[in-house]
Amino acid sequence: MRTQIVAGNWKMNKNQDETENLLSELSAKLPDSHATVIVAPTFVNLVTSKNALHSSTIKVAAQNMHFAENGAYTGEISSDMLLNIGIDIVILGHSERRSLFGEDDELLAKKVKTAIEKQMTVIFCFGEELEERKSDNHFSVVESQLKNAMFGLDEKSWQHIVLAYEPVWAIGTGETATPEQAQEMHAFIRNTISEAYNPTLANDVSILYGGSVKPNNAAEIFSKPDVDGGLIGGASLKADDFVEIIKAI
Ligand code: 13P
Repeated sequence: MRTQIVAGNWKMNKNQDETENLLSELSAKLPDSHATVIVAPTFVNLVTSKNALHSSTIKVAAQNMHFAENGAYTGEISSDMLLNIGIDIVILGHSERRSLFGEDDELLAKKVKTAIEKQMTVIFCFGEELEERKSDNHFSVVESQLKNAMFGLDEKSWQHIVLAYEPVWAIGTGETATPEQAQEMHAFIRNTISEAYNPTLANDVSILYGGSVKPNNAAEIFSKPDVDGGLIGGASLKADDFVEIIKAI
């Protein structure tokens, strides 16, 4: 059975004090939930976050990492460095990494490979841009993003993969995919994986939706059969909103 997950991608927000404050408020208000709750603060606040959450069920993820183990890669962070501070979950392929920092499928395939070799869990993000949806290419774009970065993995590796479908036009815009659009794409993703691997593997992969998930729309999106939770940006920066979204699953 696949797990349900609510993950907060904090992006480049919250300094150290703010991180501690948000996490202590979140821990205090965390509802009982069958879902796994994850937060992804900035690199510099990962240790602070691990310490703040040492007695909590909330897990901590990184927002990115380099594919190399170490070396002359100024400004980068390796999987070993993350593991060394107890972080074994990493978000890869976020649309902001793709569009603002030039990360392409080939690079992402390398990052995913490294993370899997290191036995980390990968939250792999992908999704179409507005023009691609308008021109009715959203299914082929999503299929090729998956094929290029993920379908080189062997079956066993998929136990450590969580997918996050994030249509770029819905990220930070206040415009959400309708629950029906999310379900349609998630079912397509699951079917694509089923054809590339097998139905059991496809059925066991958690597929999160991301893009302007808020307390007032989360329940309807999460109610769809192929939506296994959410990757939350803006609304994960306020404890009350994030808690409401966790309650919605
Ligand atoms: P918003 O929830 O702010 O639209 O961001 C979604 C996102 O990019 C999560 O990774």
